[in-house]
Amino acid sequence: MWLTTLFVMNDVALRILNRLSKAGNFLSGEDICREFGITRSAVWKHITLLRSEGYQVDALTGLGYRLSGMTGRPVDAEVTPFLQTRRLGKNIHYHGVIASTNIAAKALAGDGSPEGSVVVADSQTGGRGRMGRTWVSPSGVNLYFSLILRPVVPSVRVPQLTLLVAAAIHQALSNVGFTIAPLIKWPNDILVHGRKLCGVLCEMQSEPDLTHFVVVGIGINVNQSEMPQELKSVATSLFLESGHIFSRPELLAAVLNHFEPIYDTWLLEDDLGFILPYLEKHSLLQSKDVTIDQLNRTLSGRVSGISRGGELIVEGFDGQTLLISSGEAHLRK
Ligand code: BTN
Repeated sequence: MWLTTLFVMNDVALRILNRLSKAGNFLSGEDICREFGITRSAVWKHITLLRSEGYQVDALTGLGYRLSGMTGRPVDAEVTPFLQTRRLGKNIHYHGVIASTNIAAKALAGDGSPEGSVVVADSQTGGRGRMGRTWVSPSGVNLYFSLILRPVVPSVRVPQLTLLVAAAIHQALSNVGFTIAPLIKWPNDILVHGRKLCGVLCEMQSEPDLTHFVVVGIGINVNQSEMPQELKSVATSLFLESGHIFSRPELLAAVLNHFEPIYDTWLLEDDLGFILPYLEKHSLLQSKDVTIDQLNRTLSGRVSGISRGGELIVEGFDGQTLLISSGEAHLRK
Protein backbone atom coordinates (compact mmCIF):
# COMPACT_ATOMS: atom_id res chain seq x y z
CA MET A 1 0.00 0.00 0.00
CA TRP A 2 2.77 2.43 0.94
CA LEU A 3 4.65 1.72 -2.23
CA THR A 4 1.69 2.49 -4.43
CA THR A 5 0.97 5.78 -2.71
CA LEU A 6 4.51 7.14 -2.54
CA PHE A 7 4.77 9.03 -5.78
CA VAL A 8 1.38 10.59 -5.94
CA MET A 9 1.20 14.31 -6.43
CA ASN A 10 1.53 16.21 -3.12
CA ASP A 11 2.58 13.07 -1.35
CA VAL A 12 4.27 13.93 1.94
CA ALA A 13 7.22 11.59 1.35
CA LEU A 14 7.89 13.25 -1.98
CA ARG A 15 7.79 16.68 -0.37
CA ILE A 16 10.08 15.58 2.48
CA LEU A 17 12.46 14.25 -0.17
CA ASN A 18 12.36 17.61 -1.88
CA ARG A 19 12.98 19.44 1.38
CA LEU A 20 15.94 17.21 2.28
CA SER A 21 17.39 17.70 -1.18
CA LYS A 22 17.11 21.48 -0.90
CA ALA A 23 18.61 21.47 2.61
CA GLY A 24 21.68 19.63 1.29
CA ASN A 25 22.56 18.83 4.90
CA PHE A 26 21.01 17.45 8.08
CA LEU A 27 17.49 18.56 8.88
CA SER A 28 16.19 17.82 12.36
CA GLY A 29 13.23 15.50 12.82
CA GLU A 30 11.62 18.27 14.85
CA ASP A 31 11.88 20.75 11.96
CA ILE A 32 10.33 18.24 9.57
CA CYS A 33 7.49 17.55 12.04
CA ARG A 34 6.80 21.26 12.35
CA GLU A 35 7.05 22.04 8.66
CA PHE A 36 4.81 19.20 7.54
CA GLY A 37 2.48 19.13 10.54
CA ILE A 38 3.15 15.44 11.21
CA THR A 39 4.35 13.37 14.17
CA ARG A 40 7.86 12.01 14.66
CA SER A 41 6.68 8.49 13.97
CA ALA A 42 5.09 9.68 10.70
CA VAL A 43 8.40 11.29 9.71
CA TRP A 44 10.15 8.00 10.41
CA LYS A 45 7.61 6.10 8.31
CA HIS A 46 8.16 8.43 5.36
CA ILE A 47 11.94 8.16 5.70
CA THR A 48 11.63 4.35 5.76
CA LEU A 49 9.46 4.57 2.68
CA LEU A 50 11.99 6.75 0.86
CA ARG A 51 14.72 4.27 1.73
CA SER A 52 12.63 1.39 0.46
CA GLU A 53 12.31 3.28 -2.84
CA GLY A 54 16.11 3.43 -3.08
CA TYR A 55 16.90 6.83 -1.55
CA GLN A 56 19.82 6.88 0.85
CA VAL A 57 18.85 8.87 3.93
CA ASP A 58 21.33 9.14 6.81
CA ALA A 59 19.85 9.41 10.30
CA LEU A 60 22.01 10.70 13.15
CA THR A 61 20.90 11.24 16.72
CA GLY A 62 20.94 14.91 17.55
CA LEU A 63 21.30 15.98 13.91
CA GLY A 64 18.31 14.46 12.15
CA TYR A 65 18.12 13.32 8.53
CA ARG A 66 20.30 13.95 5.49
CA LEU A 67 19.74 12.82 1.91
CA SER A 68 22.93 11.16 0.68
CA GLY A 69 21.88 9.09 -2.31
CA MET A 70 19.39 9.58 -5.16
CA THR A 71 17.72 7.03 -7.45
CA GLY A 72 17.74 8.58 -10.92
CA ARG A 73 13.96 9.04 -10.96
CA PRO A 74 12.86 12.27 -12.62
CA VAL A 75 11.27 13.64 -9.43
CA ASP A 76 11.41 17.29 -8.42
CA ALA A 77 14.16 16.68 -5.85
CA GLU A 78 16.41 15.06 -8.45
CA VAL A 79 15.67 17.39 -11.38
CA THR A 80 15.89 20.73 -9.56
CA PRO A 81 19.64 20.61 -8.81
CA PHE A 82 20.25 20.59 -12.58
CA LEU A 83 17.74 23.35 -13.45
CA GLN A 84 19.00 26.74 -14.58
CA THR A 85 15.67 28.13 -15.72
CA ARG A 86 13.86 31.22 -14.51
CA ARG A 87 10.32 29.90 -14.83
CA LEU A 88 10.12 26.48 -16.53
CA GLY A 89 10.12 23.39 -14.32
CA LYS A 90 9.36 25.17 -11.06
CA ASN A 91 6.37 22.86 -10.44
CA ILE A 92 7.10 19.24 -11.22
CA HIS A 93 4.25 16.76 -10.73
CA TYR A 94 5.66 13.25 -10.63
CA HIS A 95 3.68 10.04 -11.12
CA GLY A 96 5.00 6.50 -10.82
CA VAL A 97 2.43 5.29 -13.33
CA ILE A 98 -0.05 7.35 -15.29
CA ALA A 99 -2.13 6.90 -18.42
CA SER A 100 -0.53 9.82 -20.26
CA THR A 101 1.34 12.86 -18.98
CA ASN A 102 -0.28 14.91 -21.76
CA ILE A 103 -3.75 14.08 -20.46
CA ALA A 104 -2.76 14.93 -16.89
CA ALA A 105 -1.07 18.16 -18.00
CA LYS A 106 -4.14 19.24 -19.97
CA ALA A 107 -6.30 18.73 -16.87
CA LEU A 108 -3.85 20.74 -14.74
CA ALA A 109 -3.64 23.50 -17.36
CA GLY A 110 -7.45 23.63 -17.50
CA ASP A 111 -7.43 24.07 -13.72
CA GLY A 112 -5.07 27.05 -14.03
CA SER A 113 -1.61 25.54 -13.45
CA PRO A 114 1.01 28.14 -14.31
CA GLU A 115 3.21 28.21 -17.39
CA GLY A 116 6.25 26.04 -16.94
CA SER A 117 4.55 23.34 -14.85
CA VAL A 118 5.71 19.85 -15.76
CA VAL A 119 4.00 16.49 -15.44
CA VAL A 120 6.46 13.61 -15.55
CA ALA A 121 5.92 9.87 -15.18
CA ASP A 122 8.11 6.86 -14.65
CA SER A 123 5.82 4.90 -16.97
CA GLN A 124 2.65 5.45 -19.00
CA THR A 125 -0.10 2.96 -19.64
CA GLY A 126 -1.63 4.97 -22.47
CA GLY A 127 1.25 7.04 -23.86
CA ARG A 128 0.07 8.89 -26.98
CA GLY A 129 1.95 9.66 -30.14
CA ARG A 130 1.07 11.70 -33.22
CA MET A 131 -1.65 10.54 -35.58
CA GLY A 132 -3.37 8.42 -32.94
CA ARG A 133 -0.36 6.18 -32.39
CA THR A 134 0.66 4.83 -29.01
CA TRP A 135 3.94 5.70 -27.33
CA VAL A 136 5.46 2.65 -25.71
CA SER A 137 6.39 3.75 -22.18
CA PRO A 138 8.10 1.08 -20.06
CA SER A 139 8.97 1.98 -16.47
CA GLY A 140 12.22 3.17 -14.96
CA VAL A 141 14.22 3.72 -18.13
CA ASN A 142 12.96 6.60 -20.28
CA LEU A 143 11.63 10.12 -20.02
CA TYR A 144 7.94 10.89 -20.48
CA PHE A 145 6.97 14.43 -19.61
CA SER A 146 4.63 17.25 -20.56
CA LEU A 147 5.27 20.95 -20.22
CA ILE A 148 2.45 23.47 -19.82
CA LEU A 149 2.90 26.69 -21.81
CA ARG A 150 0.70 29.76 -22.05
CA PRO A 151 2.13 31.65 -25.02
CA VAL A 152 0.36 34.91 -25.82
CA VAL A 153 0.34 34.29 -29.57
CA PRO A 154 -2.32 33.56 -32.20
CA SER A 155 -2.99 29.83 -32.41
CA VAL A 156 -1.61 29.61 -35.98
CA ARG A 157 1.87 30.07 -34.53
CA VAL A 158 1.55 27.24 -32.02
CA PRO A 159 2.65 24.39 -34.36
CA GLN A 160 6.03 26.15 -34.59
CA LEU A 161 6.61 25.18 -30.96
CA THR A 162 7.22 21.56 -31.99
CA LEU A 163 10.29 22.62 -33.96
CA LEU A 164 11.55 24.82 -31.12
CA VAL A 165 11.26 21.91 -28.72
CA ALA A 166 13.02 19.59 -31.17
CA ALA A 167 15.90 22.10 -31.37
CA ALA A 168 16.09 22.31 -27.57
CA ILE A 169 16.15 18.52 -27.18
CA HIS A 170 18.80 18.29 -29.87
CA GLN A 171 20.98 20.77 -27.95
CA ALA A 172 20.26 19.10 -24.60
CA LEU A 173 21.41 15.71 -25.87
CA SER A 174 24.89 16.94 -26.65
CA ASN A 175 24.88 18.89 -23.40
CA VAL A 176 24.46 15.71 -21.32
CA GLY A 177 27.28 13.99 -23.15
CA PHE A 178 25.54 12.11 -25.96
CA THR A 179 28.22 12.43 -28.59
CA ILE A 180 26.51 10.87 -31.60
CA ALA A 181 24.99 13.65 -33.68
CA PRO A 182 21.20 13.18 -33.81
CA LEU A 183 19.11 14.65 -36.61
CA ILE A 184 15.80 16.49 -36.42
CA LYS A 185 13.10 15.05 -38.65
CA TRP A 186 10.47 17.67 -39.41
CA PRO A 187 8.24 18.30 -37.61
CA ASN A 188 8.68 16.45 -34.35
CA ASP A 189 11.17 13.58 -34.29
CA ILE A 190 14.79 13.17 -33.35
CA LEU A 191 16.57 10.26 -34.96
CA VAL A 192 19.95 8.57 -34.74
CA HIS A 193 21.15 6.27 -37.48
CA GLY A 194 17.68 6.36 -38.99
CA ARG A 195 15.93 5.23 -35.81
CA LYS A 196 13.68 7.32 -33.61
CA LEU A 197 15.04 8.45 -30.26
CA CYS A 198 12.49 11.02 -29.32
CA GLY A 199 9.04 12.36 -30.24
CA VAL A 200 7.12 15.53 -29.44
CA LEU A 201 3.34 15.82 -29.26
CA CYS A 202 1.95 19.35 -28.85
CA GLU A 203 -1.71 19.73 -27.96
CA MET A 204 -3.46 23.03 -27.44
CA GLN A 205 -6.66 24.64 -26.28
CA SER A 206 -7.35 27.81 -28.17
CA GLU A 207 -9.61 30.21 -30.00
CA PRO A 208 -8.47 31.56 -33.40
CA ASP A 209 -6.85 34.67 -31.95
CA LEU A 210 -6.05 33.38 -28.52
CA THR A 211 -4.11 30.42 -27.22
CA HIS A 212 -5.36 29.31 -23.81
CA PHE A 213 -2.59 26.79 -23.23
CA VAL A 214 -0.31 24.38 -24.98
CA VAL A 215 0.83 21.05 -23.59
CA VAL A 216 4.16 19.94 -25.04
CA GLY A 217 4.54 16.18 -24.55
CA ILE A 218 8.05 14.81 -24.88
CA GLY A 219 9.10 11.18 -24.96
CA ILE A 220 12.83 10.36 -25.02
CA ASN A 221 14.13 6.80 -25.12
CA VAL A 222 16.96 7.10 -22.65
CA ASN A 223 18.21 3.92 -20.99
CA GLN A 224 15.96 1.32 -22.62
CA SER A 225 18.23 -1.65 -23.31
CA GLU A 226 15.92 -3.52 -25.64
CA MET A 227 13.17 -2.43 -28.02
CA PRO A 228 10.06 -4.54 -28.52
CA GLN A 229 10.43 -6.69 -31.65
CA GLU A 230 7.99 -4.59 -33.68
CA LEU A 231 9.93 -1.37 -32.96
CA LYS A 232 13.48 -2.70 -33.38
CA SER A 233 13.91 -1.40 -36.91
CA VAL A 234 12.40 2.04 -36.24
CA ALA A 235 13.22 3.00 -32.64
CA THR A 236 16.35 3.29 -30.53
CA SER A 237 17.57 4.76 -27.24
CA LEU A 238 20.55 6.77 -26.02
CA PHE A 239 21.81 3.61 -24.29
CA LEU A 240 21.42 1.40 -27.35
CA GLU A 241 23.34 3.89 -29.46
CA SER A 242 26.15 4.72 -27.03
CA GLY A 243 26.37 1.93 -24.45
CA HIS A 244 26.11 4.58 -21.72
CA ILE A 245 23.47 5.11 -19.05
CA PHE A 246 22.20 8.69 -18.87
CA SER A 247 20.72 10.56 -15.92
CA ARG A 248 17.02 11.12 -16.61
CA PRO A 249 16.74 14.04 -14.14
CA GLU A 250 19.74 15.76 -15.73
CA LEU A 251 18.39 15.28 -19.24
CA LEU A 252 14.93 16.57 -18.31
CA ALA A 253 16.50 19.66 -16.76
CA ALA A 254 18.78 20.12 -19.78
CA VAL A 255 15.78 20.12 -22.14
CA LEU A 256 14.09 22.84 -20.07
CA ASN A 257 17.36 24.79 -19.72
CA HIS A 258 17.78 24.85 -23.49
CA PHE A 259 14.14 25.39 -24.32
CA GLU A 260 13.53 28.43 -22.10
CA PRO A 261 15.79 30.92 -23.96
CA ILE A 262 14.60 29.62 -27.35
CA TYR A 263 10.97 29.98 -26.27
CA ASP A 264 11.55 33.46 -24.85
CA THR A 265 13.14 34.61 -28.12
CA TRP A 266 10.29 33.10 -30.13
CA LEU A 267 7.73 34.98 -28.02
CA LEU A 268 9.44 38.24 -28.97
CA GLU A 269 9.86 37.40 -32.65
CA ASP A 270 7.27 37.05 -35.37
CA ASP A 271 8.47 33.71 -36.69
CA LEU A 272 11.14 31.01 -36.65
CA GLY A 273 13.72 33.03 -38.58
CA PHE A 274 16.12 33.17 -35.62
CA ILE A 275 16.40 29.39 -35.36
CA LEU A 276 16.06 28.29 -38.98
CA PRO A 277 19.82 27.98 -39.59
CA TYR A 278 20.06 25.57 -36.63
CA LEU A 279 17.01 23.56 -37.69
CA GLU A 280 18.19 23.27 -41.30
CA LYS A 281 21.76 22.40 -40.32
CA HIS A 282 20.58 19.46 -38.23
CA SER A 283 17.65 18.42 -40.41
CA LEU A 284 17.45 14.83 -41.60
CA LEU A 285 15.38 15.89 -44.59
CA GLN A 286 17.40 18.87 -45.84
CA SER A 287 18.16 18.50 -49.58
CA LYS A 288 16.67 15.00 -49.57
CA ASP A 289 14.02 13.48 -51.81
CA VAL A 290 10.92 12.76 -49.76
CA THR A 291 7.39 11.48 -49.93
CA ILE A 292 4.86 13.21 -47.68
CA ASP A 293 1.84 11.24 -46.55
CA GLN A 294 -1.06 13.52 -45.73
CA LEU A 295 -4.57 12.52 -44.71
CA ASN A 296 -5.92 12.21 -48.23
CA ARG A 297 -2.94 12.65 -50.54
CA THR A 298 0.69 11.82 -51.04
CA LEU A 299 3.21 14.37 -52.33
CA SER A 300 6.81 14.03 -53.37
CA GLY A 301 9.77 16.23 -54.12
CA ARG A 302 13.09 17.50 -52.79
CA VAL A 303 13.25 19.36 -49.47
CA SER A 304 14.81 22.78 -49.85
CA GLY A 305 14.28 24.05 -46.32
CA ILE A 306 11.89 25.05 -43.56
CA SER A 307 9.86 28.24 -43.88
CA ARG A 308 9.83 31.00 -41.28
CA GLY A 309 6.33 29.77 -40.40
CA GLY A 310 7.56 26.22 -39.78
CA GLU A 311 6.36 24.57 -42.99
CA LEU A 312 8.55 22.12 -44.85
CA ILE A 313 9.52 23.60 -48.22
CA VAL A 314 9.43 20.94 -50.91
CA GLU A 315 10.33 21.46 -54.56
CA GLY A 316 7.79 19.12 -56.11
CA PHE A 317 8.94 16.84 -58.94
CA ASP A 318 6.25 18.52 -61.04
CA GLY A 319 8.10 21.86 -60.68
CA GLN A 320 5.81 23.38 -58.06
CA THR A 321 7.07 24.68 -54.71
CA LEU A 322 5.02 23.18 -51.90
CA LEU A 323 4.69 24.47 -48.34
CA ILE A 324 3.84 21.47 -46.19
CA SER A 325 2.26 22.13 -42.82
CA SER A 326 1.12 18.63 -41.84
CA GLY A 327 1.77 15.01 -42.58
CA GLU A 328 4.50 12.46 -42.26
CA ALA A 329 7.67 12.69 -44.36
CA HIS A 330 9.56 9.63 -45.57
CA LEU A 331 12.95 9.63 -47.24
CA ARG A 332 12.77 8.21 -50.77
CA LYS A 333 15.13 5.34 -51.40
C1 BTN B 1 5.29 11.11 -31.57
O1 BTN B 1 6.43 11.05 -32.00
O2 BTN B 1 4.36 10.53 -32.13
C2 BTN B 1 5.04 11.89 -30.32
C3 BTN B 1 5.30 11.08 -29.09
C4 BTN B 1 5.10 11.85 -27.80
C5 BTN B 1 5.20 10.96 -26.58
C6 BTN B 1 5.16 11.75 -25.32
S1 BTN B 1 5.59 10.78 -23.91
C7 BTN B 1 5.08 12.06 -22.86
C8 BTN B 1 3.82 12.65 -23.45
N1 BTN B 1 2.66 11.91 -23.00
C9 BTN B 1 2.06 11.27 -24.00
O3 BTN B 1 1.06 10.55 -23.88
N2 BTN B 1 2.71 11.50 -25.15
C10 BTN B 1 3.83 12.39 -24.95
